[in-house]
Amino acid sequence: MAVGEMATTLAHELNQPLGAVTNVLRGLKARLSAAIANPQPGALPPLGQGVQLALDQVQYAARIIGRIRDYTQSRQPRRERVDLHALLHNSLTLLDWDLGRHGVQLSIDLAAGIGADSDDATAVAGDGVMLQQVMVNLLRNAIDAMSVTPAGQRRLDIGSRIDAAAGQIEITIADTGCGIGDDGAAQLFMPFYSTKPTGMGIGLNICRSLIELHQGRLWFTPNAGRGCTFHVALPLAQGDEARRLPRFLDAESAVS
Ligand SMILES: Nc1ncnc2c1ncn2[C@@H]1O[C@H](COP(=O)(O)OP(=O)(O)O)[C@@H](O)[C@H]1O
Ligand SMILES: [Mg+2]
Repeated sequence: MAVGEMATTLAHELNQPLGAVTNVLRGLKARLSAAIANPQPGALPPLGQGVQLALDQVQYAARIIGRIRDYTQSRQPRRERVDLHALLHNSLTLLDWDLGRHGVQLSIDLAAGIGADSDDATAVAGDGVMLQQVMVNLLRNAIDAMSVTPAGQRRLDIGSRIDAAAGQIEITIADTGCGIGDDGAAQLFMPFYSTKPTGMGIGLNICRSLIELHQGRLWFTPNAGRGCTFHVALPLAQGDEARRLPRFLDAESAVS
């Protein structure tokens, strides 16, 4: 990765958590000010949840910085046991505030695992932080695309399908946003293509590189109704590899 490319990637990837932390801190500040202006004897406003949300975002940002540093040294993505279902839930938590603010309805329909240990069946061997960046970027794009959608019709449908014969898992993220025209379709994955006033236009380019580093594929299809669907296909961990690898979210719960 060239220095310029690394700087652009960091700027793009840190924007989301920084924005989220700013929003959470603003909310906490407003609550504290209200509590100070109108003190209730013996009662503190409940701030724990907001503090936890901000901490989650800061840890996410720290992990991204750490992994980019690792990757520039090793040139290899890490191999950890990543449960994509857990990863999706975690990524949605990081976007909770945005989903709520935009009134997005969420439906999640994940494939049940196959085999005796369902957890193992949906595990991918790869770099959890990189794969989480992909999910967060795709979800963010979907939320952005729905800003033109009437409030009651903003919907995110998240699905997964396991193709045991091909040894792969496919995640789908369908939105009811503005959709993608022919122009966009041709340029979407190119760096610096953006239709947003403040977009950097490198999110999808980063996502595709990260998925290809994992021998996977990233593409989109138009929806029959409104919006479009992004698909991520990744090879499942083979044999007992998943069992031998460190678990992504567990291993990372303490910031290193
Ligand atoms: N879910 C989506 N629905 C409609 N258009 C999308 C979607 N995701 C991406 N796009 C289009 O692809 C462009 C490039 O996306 P991206 O590389 O993430 O950059 P950015 O989000 O900064 O614009 C967006 O500006 C938008 O026009
Ligand atoms: Mg984007």
